[in-house]
Amino acid sequence: MNENIIAYETVDLCDNDECVIIIDQTKLPGKMELIRLSTAQEIWDAIYLLKVRGAPAIGVAAAFGLYVLSRQIAKDETEFDAFYDKFMEQKKYLDSARPTAVNLAWALNRMDRVCRQAHEDGKSVAEIVEILGEEAREIKEEDIRVCKSIGEYGLSLVKPGDGILTHCNAGQLATCKYGTATAPIYLGQERGYKFRVFADETRPLLQGARLTAYELSSAGVDVTLICDNMSGMVMKNGWINAVFVGCDRVAANGDVANKIGTSVVAAVAKQYGVPFYVCAPTSTIDLDTPTGAEITIEQRPPEEVTEMWYKERMAPEGVKVFNPAFDVTDHELITAIVTEHGIARAPFTESLLKCKGKN
Ligand code: MRU
Repeated sequence: MNENIIAYETVDLCDNDECVIIIDQTKLPGKMELIRLSTAQEIWDAIYLLKVRGAPAIGVAAAFGLYVLSRQIAKDETEFDAFYDKFMEQKKYLDSARPTAVNLAWALNRMDRVCRQAHEDGKSVAEIVEILGEEAREIKEEDIRVCKSIGEYGLSLVKPGDGILTHCNAGQLATCKYGTATAPIYLGQERGYKFRVFADETRPLLQGARLTAYELSSAGVDVTLICDNMSGMVMKNGWINAVFVGCDRVAANGDVANKIGTSVVAAVAKQYGVPFYVCAPTSTIDLDTPTGAEITIEQRPPEEVTEMWYKERMAPEGVKVFNPAFDVTDHELITAIVTEHGIARAPFTESLLKCKGKN
């Protein structure tokens, strides 16, 4: 294994386009394992079980997945109507894997639009499948460009030597390169900014410890791992100049769904006067969702809290467990939302519209 995790593709297609290849992120940091997904069940499971996770990476995996499945469907169905029925069945199935990150539905809808347009343009099923492959590849390439641009805008908000706190993993492992919240950090690293990064461990699935601390330290970034309940202390100590987090869905009013615990970090940042920045590709902005109250929050199994990461169960048998995977940070707590088209500030109802309009 190449010891630098960031040299690997988070999500890719295999050489003959018959499967999706992902890093199995549930095995990190202990084991670097690439796995191949070729059935709808395998792709759905990989998303649900967080083998591939992070809003943009989920979108790319789903787009590649739908392309791989389309190739299989086209072997039996050469008539468009029959092909499209099965295509839609698989699209709906993949879309059901996780509800909060809008990028999943966004990428699948994009594949659907391209499919219908190609049919209207008179393309055969075989040609449509080729076009779907091109679109899926473009979604991935676009993600890389978008993250880089978010990094440039994010970098303009900080200065060399700054302390940066991040929550969960909105890093390269959550995207196809650079990450969103980590993009300013990676670009700053290339340019000698010498940031001091603090990574929340992010209970219960430890994306901060297992993934962010891992990928940043692999890239040579000065990163310190802290438990989730320590962010108040590091901010009070004056060690943090800015918080950068990613997001799974931005509502039209600027409310943001991101990994559970993000809203606590935002409230603490406000208390200590630390700017709180959300990094969001415009694909994550959902203008059809008016406020955070309308965002569906994924609930996950209690075992993730009670036993999953422990040698033995750490809670009494039968105890009630509340395990939402995400929370909503109110827009009042957000200093700015950094997109690939610029930095949106309050009033977000207007600034997000402008950023989104540049698509
Ligand atoms: O449950 P996860 O690991 O998919 O949650 C990931 C996050 O909350 C990320 O912050 C978000 O998806 C943005 S990734 C660029």
